[in-house]
Formats: sequence, structure tokens, C-alpha cells
Amino acid sequence: MELTNESKVIDEARQGEATVVTGENSSGRKLYIESYGCQMNFSDSEIVASVLTDNGFSTTKQMEEADVIFINTCAIRDNAEQRIRGRLKEFRAAKGKNKDLIVGVLGCMAERLKTKLLEEEKIVDIVVGPDAYRDLPNLVAEAETGQKAVNVQLSKEETYADINPVRLNSNGITAFISITRGCDNMCSFCVVPFTRGRERSRKPESIVAEAQELFDNGYREVTLLGQNVDSYLWTGGGLKKENPSKEELENATNFAQLLEKVALVSPDLRVRFSTSHPKDMTDDVLYTMAKYENICNYIHLPVQSGNSRVLEMMNRGYSREWYMDRIEAIRRIIPGCGISTDIITGFCSETNEEHKDTISLMEWVGYDFAYMFKYSERPKTLAQRKYEDDIPEEVKGERLKEVIDLQMKLSDVSNKKDVGHTFKVLVEGTSKRSDEHVFGRNSQNKVIVFPKENYKPGDYVNVLVQDCTPATLLGKAV
Ligand code: 5AD
Ligand code: SF4
Repeated sequence: MELTNESKVIDEARQGEATVVTGENSSGRKLYIESYGCQMNFSDSEIVASVLTDNGFSTTKQMEEADVIFINTCAIRDNAEQRIRGRLKEFRAAKGKNKDLIVGVLGCMAERLKTKLLEEEKIVDIVVGPDAYRDLPNLVAEAETGQKAVNVQLSKEETYADINPVRLNSNGITAFISITRGCDNMCSFCVVPFTRGRERSRKPESIVAEAQELFDNGYREVTLLGQNVDSYLWTGGGLKKENPSKEELENATNFAQLLEKVALVSPDLRVRFSTSHPKDMTDDVLYTMAKYENICNYIHLPVQSGNSRVLEMMNRGYSREWYMDRIEAIRRIIPGCGISTDIITGFCSETNEEHKDTISLMEWVGYDFAYMFKYSERPKTLAQRKYEDDIPEEVKGERLKEVIDLQMKLSDVSNKKDVGHTFKVLVEGTSKRSDEHVFGRNSQNKVIVFPKENYKPGDYVNVLVQDCTPATLLGKAV
């Protein structure tokens, strides 16, 4: 696990990882799921597993023994989709051995390509979009009769609020809770509004109840997930009201209030969240973070570009100056807060000077980590319709290399600054590299490895950092 940070400075780190969802229970037909892409997809796979285990399935780690294979997909960049197509080819062999095997494509790529996927990838039996997972038992039944089954209906209400996710592949300590679905932002480069539909907020009571249940079951950290958590707003229904009345607003729950409710579950339950949006992140949220020790001091605040003209073309809704003001607010209200970001290089018409603005902003902020990507044109998006993808691949690559090299230096500076300081660490497990060590994270989301002694997952330990590698802090309990 402590390798996670290393991957943070590598292109495609977040959206490219695959994980097999597993679990051992019940009998009957067996399901095997692989998840790709963002944390929301991993969280969705737990909902899918729940829907199917309620319908007599058990889950398996062994693809060979599966009756149903699901692949939960990402469409954010073209190379994410290519990777999934490669994986589908590999499933063909499994299907050769077991004629009754059912292969389903779930998530964003399913939603984007719809029935086209059935034509292009002959081995696929089921295509299901992110809002149609309740229909999976029917779709599987249909596929079992030898027909192709498709449901790519998007919803304005679905939040799966009442579904209790099956926590599979879990360390028993940290878990995701989704708080919103979809996105209304329409950043011009982004396919998500098309694949995940309108933004809906989930009822606060169901979120708090899920956090409470996790805590009662021994979990010690929850991450609240949404495409833009700062726009969370519950006004009595999932879709945000266009013009809420004064009374409705007074009775509403916004993100700062939701954070507080979850933080109050227990001081021993850490609360994290992702992703924040610079245009919507309020000081209220920052003050709530500062008020509760168990809300982690870490913000992932994607900037995308450091140049205001490019940001405007990206339809991000903020300028360089606005973003800098938000960073200053974080530094002022939450001193020592960890900050990470997302960056896209080579967006349509980006000049070299504009790229340098991204470099200078990165230096100014001094990010602890970053996820960095080359611009990849996505069908249907505003940018694809309005702008020419005119930066040569080679230039995109050079710019990407420059931001990656800089981020490696910034992460190194950030890690070295921590040497000599003591942090409260939540232990997550045994270090991959040594059975004699455990690892966990500090509030700022950095991985810290230290000698095991008698510590076990779920313990909070004060650790003095003595050394660091590019990816990890090393220390000892004090
Ligand atoms: N090309 C490259 N990167 C993209 N992202 C989203 N869409 C694209 C695209 N078309 C990146 C953004 C976003 C992260 C999740 O993925 O940086 O914040
Ligand atoms: Fe995509 Fe922008 Fe929504 Fe994030 S906020 S999912 S980048 S449209």
C-alpha cells in the first residue's frame, strides 16, 4: 500500500489502476469484478457486489471459477479505454473455456459507447451504465438466456442510498462513502457529465448512518466521495433545486454541515473527502476542517492549468488568481494542510508561455503530490466540439515530463520538510516490504512506515519521522 504515493507523480496513476474485488461468502454462482479508474468506480463496484450477493451470488478472486465477469470501466482518457479493450481480449480466452461465462462491461465506458460496445467487442454480453446497477439481476438473467442485455439509462434520483456496500478487498480500517453522483460542471475537456449524468446529493442521514456502521464495525477512516464534494447540497431531494426557497435553504445541508455531521460520529473516526473544486470550496468548509481534529488536513484541489485563458477555455469557472486565493485561505485557516492537484498538459491552443504559468503556479503552491496527464480529446465534450486538439503529441509529452519532473522535486521538498516532526498515524497494515514494519497515513495523507512492535491496524500512533524516500516517510513510534 505504501507504494500508492509513488504512483502519484506518474501519468495515469489514478485512473489506470485495476483492482480485483473479492470476497468469500454464500454459494451458488460466482462473480468476479475488476475495477478501473477513479475511487468512485471502486466504490460503485462495492454496490454492484452488494446487489448481486443479495441475489444469490458469491464473489471470487479467481477469474477461472467465475460464472460472471464484470469490468467496471473508465472513459476519462483514451488510453484508459484502450487498456480496458486489451483486458476484454484476455477475457476471450476464458470464454473459450466456458461457453456459459457471462461478460459484463460496467461504468463510464459502457455509458459512453452503449450498444456500440456490443458490436465492437463481441465477447460482451451485458452493457450497464453507472445508474442502472439495481437492474443487474435482470440483465444477468437476460444474458443467461443467450441474449445481449443493455441498460444505460441515467437517472436524476439514483444515489444507491439504501444499498449497503459489500466491503470487499478491504483492510477493515478505511472505506469510501459516496455522497454525490454525477457532475453538473461541464469542464470542456471532461466526459464525466456525459457518462455519469446530472449531479445528485445523497440524503445526509444515510451518509451519517453508513459512517456510524463502519465505525461500529471497527473502521477508523471514511473518505466522502463526489465529483465535486463542495457542491453537495441536500434540499430534501437528490437533484439540486433550481431556485430553492429561503426556508428550503435554511433546512438544507451543505458540504460543510455534512462534514461536521460525519466528524461527530466519533473523534476516533477520521474523515477525508475527494474531490474539492476550487470554484466552490468555501471558507466554511475550511473552518469546519480546522474545528475537528478528526477531519484530515488534506485537500485535493485540481488546478488543471495555471493560466487564466486556458482555465477559461476549460470552463473551470475560476482564474489563476482565484485559485491562488483559495490556496492562501487553506494556508491561513489550516496551517500545515497537505495539498495535491491534477494537471493537464497540452490542452487545445496552450502556448509555451501558458504552460510555464502552470509550472510557476506549481512552484508557488509547492504541491505535496500531483496527478498529471496529457490532454486526451474525448468525444462529445465541449472542447471536442469547439476547439482543435492542436498541440502535437510530442509537445504534450514534453510538457508532461516537465511537470512530472518538477512535481518529483516538490514532493521531495515536502517529504524532507517532515523529517524531525511527529505525526499521528492511523495504522492500516503491515508494510509490503517488511513484515517487521507497519504503515499508515498521517492527517496530510502521507504514508509513514515504522517498526511494528505491537501495533496493529486501526491503532493511532504518534510517529517521529526520521527519514524519507521519494514515496514514503520512515519513522519510529514515540
Ligand atoms: N484529458 C486528460 N486528462 C483529463 N482529466 C479529465 N479529463 C481529461 C482529459 N480529457 C483529468 C483531470 C481530472 C482528472 C480526474 O482527470 O485532471 O481532474
Ligand atoms: Fe469532469 Fe469537471 Fe466534473 Fe471534475 S468537475 S468530473 S473535471 S466536469
